[in-house]
This record gives sequence, C-alpha cells and structure tokens, in this order.
Amino acid sequence: MDRRELIIGTGAFALGAGGITALASKAAEAANLTLVAQPARFAINGAVTENMMSYAPDQPPPVIRMKQGRRFVTDLINKLPEETTIHWHGVRVPNPMDGVPYLAQDPIPPGTAFRYDFVPMDAGTYWYHPHCNTLEQMGRGLTGVLIVDETIDPGFDTDLILNLRDFRLGPGNQFIEFFTVKTAARGGTLGTVMTANWAVRPVYDQPAGGLTRLRLVASDTTRVYKITIPGAETRLLALDGNPVPDDLQPLDPASPLFLGPGQRADIAVRIPDLEGSLIDVLTEVQGQGKVLAQLKAAGPSRNRAITDVRPLPSNPVKEPDIQSAERHDFVFGWTPGGDKPQLSLCGSLGFTFWSINRAAWPGDFPNPTEPLAIFKQDQSYILSFRNETQNDHPIHLHGMTFRVLHSSKRPLSRQLTDTVLLRAQETIDVAVVADNPGNWMFHCHVIEHQKSGLSGFIRVA
Ligand code: C2O
Ligand code: CU
Ligand code: CU
Repeated sequence: MDRRELIIGTGAFALGAGGITALASKAAEAANLTLVAQPARFAINGAVTENMMSYAPDQPPPVIRMKQGRRFVTDLINKLPEETTIHWHGVRVPNPMDGVPYLAQDPIPPGTAFRYDFVPMDAGTYWYHPHCNTLEQMGRGLTGVLIVDETIDPGFDTDLILNLRDFRLGPGNQFIEFFTVKTAARGGTLGTVMTANWAVRPVYDQPAGGLTRLRLVASDTTRVYKITIPGAETRLLALDGNPVPDDLQPLDPASPLFLGPGQRADIAVRIPDLEGSLIDVLTEVQGQGKVLAQLKAAGPSRNRAITDVRPLPSNPVKEPDIQSAERHDFVFGWTPGGDKPQLSLCGSLGFTFWSINRAAWPGDFPNPTEPLAIFKQDQSYILSFRNETQNDHPIHLHGMTFRVLHSSKRPLSRQLTDTVLLRAQETIDVAVVADNPGNWMFHCHVIEHQKSGLSGFIRVA
C-alpha cells in the first residue's frame, strides 16, 4: 500500500506497521485521543516564537494520561511538512508501537496518520517525543509528558507536572541553529531559554499545608538538571517512573538530584501552611541556583503531614537472575573513524563524533546495521556501561526496564529505570530480563550524541 496516496482531510488515512489494527474505519476501536503533530507559534518568553512544533494548536503538547493496565489507542496525524513518529519513552510497548523509524515502523509521511495501540503495564511518569529528525522536532517543541495513573489513588492533594526543557532562541525570540559542531562533539549544545511547561519561571498555586505530587520531566535534548527544592519538606517517590527501591528520603539540599535528558522524578512536596509562601524548584547553572518554577501556598491550610506519604506500589517488572545472567560490555566513546554519515529521511547532523563499542550508528535506514547484542527472550543479562569520555551520557534502552546494580564511582541505589546517567569516566552495571521481543534502540539521550553516532540496538529473540 502506498501511504503517500492517502491524504488527511478526506477522513481516510493509512495505518502503518502491518497487522496492528484494521484501518481506522467505524469497525476499529475508537481512539482515546487524537494527536496532531503540527507547526505552532507561542509566546514562550514575551514575543511570539514562530516555527515551533506541537501536538496541539499553538500551545504546548498535551499531558497524556493513561491508566495502568488499560488499553490506550491514539491516532497521530502528521500535519508537519516532514516525516515523524512518536516514541513512548519508558513505556514497555510491543515493538511495532515503539516509534523507531525502520526498526519498528516506517516514518509517517506528511499528510498521513498512524495508530498507536498498546496497554501500559507500568504506572508512573513518562514522556513522548518523535524518533525522526529528533534534534529539530524536539528542539521546536515536540516533547510531551505522559502519566500512567496507578490503579490505587496515592492520596495527594494535587498533581503538578513540570515539563522541563530549553529552547534555543536568539534575537526576537526566534530559533537559532539547533547545534554547533564544537558543542555537539562535547557535552551537547544547550538552549538559551529555560522553561517549565513552555513558560519561564511559572508560579503554580498549590493548596497550603497540602501534599503535592511534583512530577519533573527532563525533556530537554541536552541539559542535565541538578534539582533542589529548599524551603519545603520533600520525599523522593520515584525515578523514571519506578518507585525508589529504598525508604522514602527527603531531597538533600546539599546534594542535588541529577536528572539527565529523558529522566523523570516524582517528589512529594509538603506545601507550607502560610498562604502566599513560595517554594523554589531550582536547578544549578554555573554553580548558581536557578529557579525553574515556583509553588505558591494558596488557601487555608490542609494540615497534611509529610509523614502521611506512603511508598508508591511497585511496577510488574521481572527481577533479573544475577547468578545466571550473561554479561555484555558496552563502551561509549568517541568515534575512531570520524566518517560522514549518510543523509537519512529522519535527519542526520552530518557529522559522526560518538560510538558504542567503537562503532558509530550510521543513521536511520530501511536496513539497519547489525544489533549490538542479541538477547534470548526471558534470559537475564548484565549490561556493563563504560563511559570512556569526559562527558555525561544518559544511556537509554527502549522496550525494557532495567535495574541499576552499581557504579565504579559512587553509591547508587538499585533503581529500576529506562535511562541511567553515566557521568564522565564512570562504569555502571545494570541487569535486565529480556522479556520483550524485538529490535530495541539503545542510545544516549543527549540528542546530538545520539544523532552523531552514540546509538545502536539490541535484538531480543
Ligand atoms: Cu526518549 Cu529513543 O528515546
Ligand atoms: Cu525510549
Ligand atoms: Cu551522550
């Protein structure tokens, strides 16, 4: 079938990934949601920024809410002038729903649509973004928050979501180039305007004396956030969608919570009793605290206590068997050759700087290179991630949740996650049960690193 012939506007549209569902005719399951990827304009920082991209008309991408264990169906309509896909970061979906060009589905041409249909197994804070021309599409705005609600009510007064990201804006608040060669070959190119929910330093009213579930999502392409919330009682509930494995602890004002690109944190915050009190959510920029957003106590006190906060229920992730696990080493480094990648439909920076096991990802093509590893379905594996560079690399695996075992450099708790932040020259071992068959992308979530070589995939068969 030639999808390019089926154009939106007549109501007819094509579905990719053979055999997923029938055409979206009356017979098919109704979509819970329609997402329209489209050009947008929005005043992030005073003047209107043109040439943005969103999943909603002239506003930030919607927060998608799913229910744990309930089927979710969405039609993505592509009204962008270029190909796109959606990847559901951290959600364990069947491979054809994973949104990776060619490994999972064909890129979705402009003027067509694609139906995503899956059941989210795990509750928690996740996010969604394209996996095609990602530096630019994410850079222009296509990063949204996805919440999978627990089957029980965890009992907070409010749920406050902060989609944290930068935009690279220059004079007149218009986009400037998304990367420079020099920074792409190092830590990545930072944005110029820091935002939460596409706003600079927004203030959110929260019930005084109440318990807020603060969900932080680092959806930036580059920035590693160093989060502190001084001035309020806090408890760290979950990282990357999964409840913390140890007892609930306050965020330590003396040691920031590092959130690399792609990572999330759920934090219980006890709002002060006094109406009008302000709490800063801070990151650090060049050693200085920088306000990302503020929470403002509103109304009469609800007199909640931080000690009312209970651990979240754990997700149904299989525990790896460390004894029988086979070990695989992955070395993240510079690329030896420095070859030029070929141009692909889903975007290339035009440079190769990075590698996994000394090989650079050549780009997104119909016949991808060989997998970095082949895992047997339902076997346990230990993956040893060695960063031989001076830069941070948030290493992300699609399709499966893994458990952090230990670091060569620092104490780490045994968190379940989809993305682990490797600091300079650090080795982190993780373990996983390869329970989801398919070809799963495995890459650094600093998008310039991903797009200039630090990418590959693992096959589970
Ligand atoms: Cu957040 Cu390969 O993705
Ligand atoms: Cu992902
Ligand atoms: Cu990296």
